[in-house]
Amino acid sequence: MRRPSDQGIPPRSSSVLRLLRPGPRPAAALAAAIAAATALPLAAPQITRRFVDDAIGGASIRHLTLIALGYLVLAVAGQAARMVTAWLASRLAWDGTNRIRERLAGHALGLDMTFHGRHTPGELIERVDGDVVAVADFVVAFLLDVVAGVLLLSGVVVVVFGVDWRIGCVLLAYCLLIGYGMARAQRAAVPSAARSRAASATLFGALEERLAGAEDIRANGAGEHMVRRFHQVSAALFRAENRDARVGTVLLAGTSVAFAAGTAIMLGLAAWAMSSGTLTVGTAVLLFQYTLMVRTPFERLIDQIREYQAALAGLARIGGLLAERRTLAEPARPRPLPPAGPLGLRLDGVSFAYPGDDEQVLSGITLDLAPGETLGLVGRTGSGKTTLARLVLRLYDPVEGVVRVGGVDLRAADPASLRRRIGVVTQDVQIFAASVRDNLTLFRPSPGDERLRDILDGVGLGDWLAALPDGLDTEVRDVSAGEAQLIAFARAFLADPGLVVLDEASSRLDPATERRIEHSIDRLLGGRTGVIIAHRLSSLARVDKIAVLDQGKIIEYGRRADLAADPHSRYGRLLDLAGVSR
Ligand SMILES: Nc1ncnc2c1ncn2[C@@H]1O[C@H](COP(=O)(O)OP(=O)(O)OP(=O)(O)O)[C@@H](O)[C@H]1O
Ligand SMILES: [Mg+2]
Repeated sequence: MRRPSDQGIPPRSSSVLRLLRPGPRPAAALAAAIAAATALPLAAPQITRRFVDDAIGGASIRHLTLIALGYLVLAVAGQAARMVTAWLASRLAWDGTNRIRERLAGHALGLDMTFHGRHTPGELIERVDGDVVAVADFVVAFLLDVVAGVLLLSGVVVVVFGVDWRIGCVLLAYCLLIGYGMARAQRAAVPSAARSRAASATLFGALEERLAGAEDIRANGAGEHMVRRFHQVSAALFRAENRDARVGTVLLAGTSVAFAAGTAIMLGLAAWAMSSGTLTVGTAVLLFQYTLMVRTPFERLIDQIREYQAALAGLARIGGLLAERRTLAEPARPRPLPPAGPLGLRLDGVSFAYPGDDEQVLSGITLDLAPGETLGLVGRTGSGKTTLARLVLRLYDPVEGVVRVGGVDLRAADPASLRRRIGVVTQDVQIFAASVRDNLTLFRPSPGDERLRDILDGVGLGDWLAALPDGLDTEVRDVSAGEAQLIAFARAFLADPGLVVLDEASSRLDPATERRIEHSIDRLLGGRTGVIIAHRLSSLARVDKIAVLDQGKIIEYGRRADLAADPHSRYGRLLDLAGVSR
């Protein structure tokens, strides 16, 4: 059994890194490739020394040609080893980071509305993909440049020690000095990389939101404001990136100067050793080559320090996302809702405030619907109707009180059975760029075309379907708001729930379509429990009960027929106001 306290422990970066760990065989192959990529370049200057010394000693052209060929083979093999290393390292990094992506995407999808209300989809994409790419890039580079680089550097120092221990000491001291300098420089680069990633996430978040709302923005003439805001966010990103790049340039220039000085020192030492007779010309060339070889790994290392910052920032944010917990506690022993038939609904003293908001949106709501009964929920804009529907769907938990569906406290209900047994149709219908069939089944296995056609007929979309070129296979593109609404009804029919929540579901339909759909609403509610939220009171003509909400409280509740007959009831007065016969 899961203890509740388990949910509060945030995963560390180390647990994210564990997802990156490769299997033993790929790891061994990579180690072999790295070893070859290091050893082969290290051998090259030895051949040059041989060539120079033998040439000065008057060796035959044939002999020298063979040495040169050997050098060529070594150079090609060295490059090949590097390529294989790069290929293996990328594969490992992609395998590992795909595991992180999967985990992150799954985790983010499992979080509830409290989280998703605070984060835009664009921001999440940047986190699930952008941050993971930064980590993947670094892992590849770490294996390729940091591990291989450090090995190569150590190899060079060891070999030079073998040639002349005094020159070896100087080279070692020089490498340590450069290493120290770069470690200091790393600290200078810390904040700028983090800032640039944060600015990039903000830009993506802003873009996503503006694009999603493009139609409203244009229609309301808010374009100019949005463009200005876009410029501001872009400018922030530009400044952050610019600063980040400047830091990088300064570091690079610094190392260039340091390396030039180092090469000069080594050349001076070699000249001194040669003139004192302890060194051949070939060995001097060898030392020169090794000194040049030090530069590339160091430069790659400095690049990696910057990548490392980005990867570290990415890792921290990945860890942060994984540490986000559901605010809706998962039941220890989930109870399924009754698998078939209409489901009773009961709210007992339910109060609610949105997370992070003090304002009480619902207070002391008590309602009871027997299986198969329908409730009409009316009340002014902002009175809490949609909020109440969200509690019935368990998008949030009440702060006080209990919501029971089919006799099961929703906090203890199995989430999968909850989604299966409670259907909802709202004004906000998502139509996917996919076939009619997939839009009805939401990409689940189809119950058969015959059934889908029947259902579309039932909601009044029979003629619409008949006019489509490829029938159920037609890709849904331009549907009107009303058609989208009818498709949502069809989805609800298909799911065959035991409790249906309709939130302003028929308000986008023209009067003719609304009449047409009324009988399909009746059919949808036949043999099911229903909660119907509607401003238009005429759509509530057939419900069993009415609840009138005002500022989060039920101010009237009873059988519709009784309330309609009561000359003093609020519902009755609302009907009179709307000109609907009682
Ligand atoms: N996600 C949210 N976070 C914070 N407050 C919210 C949220 N959604 C709604 N509210 C607030 O809760 C109150 C009730 O809103 P709700 O959407 O439930 O009203 P409603 O009765 O459905 O209104 P309408 O008839 O306009 O649809 C309002 O004051 C609203 O500002
Ligand atoms: Mg509403």
